[in-house]
Amino acid sequence: MASSNPTQREYALLTVLLVSLLLVFSSNKPTPLSFHTDDIDVSAADSISFSRLSWGSGRVPHSKLVTHVPGWTMIDRLYVLNGTAYIVTTQPKLFPHPKFIMSTGINIDNGPEAVAARLPTDSEIRIISPIEARSLFGTGAGRVQGVTWLVNDPRQFITHYYHWSAELFFGFCRAYSALDPFIPPTGKSALPPPRRMLFTHLDAAHWRDYASMNQWVLRTAFPSIVMEFSGDWEDRAQMGVPFVLDRVLLADRAAAINGENFGRTQRTASEPFALPGSPNWWSTFRNNIIEFAGLNATEGQSTRSRPVITYISRQGWGRRMLIQADHDRLVEELYKLRDAYDYEVNVVSMDKLSRVEQLRMSGRTTIMLGVHGNGLTSLLWMKPSPRSTVMEFFFPGGFAHDYEYTARALGMVHFGYWGNKAFTRPDVPPVAYPEGFQGNEIPINGSVVAKIVQERLALSDEADD
Ligand SMILES: *[C@@H]1O[C@H](CO)[C@@H](O)[C@H](O)[C@H]1NC(C)=O
Ligand SMILES: *[C@@H]1O[C@H](CO)[C@@H](O)[C@H](O)[C@H]1NC(C)=O
Ligand SMILES: *[C@@H]1O[C@H](CO)[C@@H](O)[C@H](O)[C@H]1NC(C)=O
Repeated sequence: MASSNPTQREYALLTVLLVSLLLVFSSNKPTPLSFHTDDIDVSAADSISFSRLSWGSGRVPHSKLVTHVPGWTMIDRLYVLNGTAYIVTTQPKLFPHPKFIMSTGINIDNGPEAVAARLPTDSEIRIISPIEARSLFGTGAGRVQGVTWLVNDPRQFITHYYHWSAELFFGFCRAYSALDPFIPPTGKSALPPPRRMLFTHLDAAHWRDYASMNQWVLRTAFPSIVMEFSGDWEDRAQMGVPFVLDRVLLADRAAAINGENFGRTQRTASEPFALPGSPNWWSTFRNNIIEFAGLNATEGQSTRSRPVITYISRQGWGRRMLIQADHDRLVEELYKLRDAYDYEVNVVSMDKLSRVEQLRMSGRTTIMLGVHGNGLTSLLWMKPSPRSTVMEFFFPGGFAHDYEYTARALGMVHFGYWGNKAFTRPDVPPVAYPEGFQGNEIPINGSVVAKIVQERLALSDEADD
């Protein structure tokens, strides 16, 4: 039949339709997701034959500032020669002052002399014109392909679970996820994982912590990541030939300290929160880590599931412990809640659990309690919900932002305690480490704690109705 045979004209119409559909869809692609730079398509040009960025007698390809806050800077095509980083640009005003990008990478001590000694010099970072670059670099540079997370910090704050996971890694993840501000609640993102983590001032023997959590976090989040250390950085420096990092996210603690958010929170990871980002940004990284521990990351605490209360005890640790009778009373009060309301109550010493057990337990926790200390780093693995709460016990008069900031940054509520007294945002005291802060006579009133636990769980149930 004639009607079932498409004519040439119909073919032509169909073609026009398909082409226009294609155009509509391709123009709707969210640009932040793609990994294209101006001159190189990294995903396509990722073969051995593209190991060099050559410009011959042409212009040296310029560096591009992708995103920046003090201490966290993402640049496409950062050149490195003789251990110095070079930004190549005809518009130096588009780049932040180098002191907000990099430091000399020495230990962070107090006092104006220490601050001055951290300011970067021409040996650390320089902003140069393409003409200057041409005379310094010659006709090309060796590509360090893919995404590099570069750490310019000294060893000082690295070998510690909290500083590693809740500051360095946390800040990296937040800054990097600015490229994908539409991460859905499932945490799925098309962002490529960083190919390598590169330390300019740290040797391979000094990034792990005593509990071996640092390597667990990194290698579960990014199973194929490669580590490079100061020796590798020096290898390239001593070759005296230029390299170019395709895309680098550069972290520098001393540079972050120059930012305004740091002034308020003392947390370097607070700076990237000024960047665009999805409310679900952390789930992208948390899910990988949690799933390695055997938990289903999409499940977990909803406002209607059975609450899990986890008290991380430091009794027996020898430092920063509760008065023993107060600890006993607190446990008694929590067990009363368990018996009255059928809550799950766990009283645990993190050092007695395996890493998998720690992650599983915190991944299921609704309310986490404990004395100020590294054990509370586990709050990172909680699944934030309206009733998720962190309760931190301080010696009266003492306060630090570490866990308070991190809990809030994840959208959870934080309560601090001084014996009988509880406080929460905005009524938090100033940072203080009074005598007794590190001691083993920290008071807590178990019935005050239990009352607030119960309020938090009841309140969110009502809010959910
Ligand atoms: C290489 O760096 C070292 C140390 O910063 C410096 O002394 C030397 O002059 C540099 N050489 C060149 C060619 O830039
Ligand atoms: C996780 O739980 C969800 C919801 O119960 C389920 O659909 C999904 O298949 C589970 N994933 C895995 C890996 O078990
Ligand atoms: C603990 O708090 C409760 C309720 O506020 C109070 O009645 C009790 O006296 C307090 N206990 C101590 C030892 O201060």
